[in-house]
Amino acid sequence: MTAEDLKALIRTVPDFPKPGILFRDITTLIADGAGFAATIELLATQATAARAEAIAGMEARGFIFGAAVAARLALPFLPIRKPGKLPVPVLSIDYALEYGTDTLEVDPTAIGSAQRVVIIDDLIATGGTATAAVKLLRSAGALVDHALFVIDLPDLGGANRLRALDVAVSALMD
Ligand code: PRP
Ligand code: ADE
Repeated sequence: MTAEDLKALIRTVPDFPKPGILFRDITTLIADGAGFAATIELLATQATAARAEAIAGMEARGFIFGAAVAARLALPFLPIRKPGKLPVPVLSIDYALEYGTDTLEVDPTAIGSAQRVVIIDDLIATGGTATAAVKLLRSAGALVDHALFVIDLPDLGGANRLRALDVAVSALMD
């Protein structure tokens, strides 16, 4: 399956969750078993090329792709969580979204010192989520120099924000 085939499996919903947002919904991609598997294979190949020692994914959609890639490569998976979910002391960071604000948290004891962590999420828009994840993981001692996405919305500038933090960015489609 090509990236074009995978793109055809993603549905676009106008005005969700707010007027003016064109929401790119991966529900229809992961409901297609062959499409989901092909997506994970492509991301896993890129994670291997990035010399990943662990995969981090952002709650919630980043868990779907990140955890599957980590298991495919038998690598550790580090959940980057929304606030108040982890039962241990956390590192925390606030960030702005295309349609609001939120907070991310991580258990720093899950991350090995100088471990090369590759970030995976379904989509990069403004890059607020991903830049927050990079800062959070680095503050926990990780080495973060690659981030992988299924979808990049390049007009929103997120990939360039990540590159400004010396993070190489790749996406399967725009
Ligand atoms: C979505 C998406 C990315 C983020 C991208 O997550 O899964 O994590 O937005 O936007 P940005 O580049 O502007 O930060 P959302 O916060 O909607 O949460 P969800 O995964 O729980 O649906
Ligand atoms: N997260 C941020 N912007 C988004 C969009 N346009 N579609 C889906 N998820 C998003």
